[in-house]
Amino acid sequence: MSGKKLHRHGGKSSEAVLNAQRVLRSINLCEGDVFMDAGCGDGFISRAASRMVGAEGEVLAVDQHSPSLDILREKVREEKIKNLKVLEADLTRKLSIPDETVDLCLMANVLHGFFHNEELDQAIPELLRILKPGARLAIVEFKKIEGMPGPPFAHRITAEDVRGILESRGFQFQEEMEVGPYHYAVVLAKK
Ligand SMILES: C[S@@+](CC[C@H](N)C(=O)[O-])C[C@H]1O[C@@H](n2cnc3c(N)ncnc32)[C@H](O)[C@@H]1O
Repeated sequence: MSGKKLHRHGGKSSEAVLNAQRVLRSINLCEGDVFMDAGCGDGFISRAASRMVGAEGEVLAVDQHSPSLDILREKVREEKIKNLKVLEADLTRKLSIPDETVDLCLMANVLHGFFHNEELDQAIPELLRILKPGARLAIVEFKKIEGMPGPPFAHRITAEDVRGILESRGFQFQEEMEVGPYHYAVVLAKK
């Protein structure tokens, strides 16, 4: 890639500005779903998802930043969560998740980093591999507006950018919605 500065996205949590339940309800997470939180950070959304999918469902919380995962592992122990698996892994490489096993994958505040770092073609095919046929991918991103909170304006992407990135990589657009004062979501289905 070019000499531009890489986007650094480890160790950041959106918990203060994003309501996990609102996000998960908006993207229609259901009881019994296998849900993947790709780039989960400290896992505040994964923990909310574990309550919504129930005992028949499962949550896969994936990140490569071990200090964030340590926070999640501690919460999982404290809250005695049984249906959440923490996976320390790089989303741009092959994941130890079998083919076609995930019903709904969420990437919250992650895709703009892959876009900026030119890692889309490493990360997206792996998501396609593990999603069930017709399963959904939900992208949550900071609105592309100036000011705090969120990543620098130049690193933010619009909902139209998200559609363009994913419609050209095996996904079909389903819907777009606002999920908080600073965030939008785009939901797509695996073609
Ligand atoms: C801005 S944080 C968002 C965390 C969480 N989703 C939230 O909204 O609070 C981006 C997360 O993506 C993770 N991440 C970025 N690139 C990754 C990669 N290649 N593999 C695994 N995780 C990655 C970072 O470690 C970080 O935890």
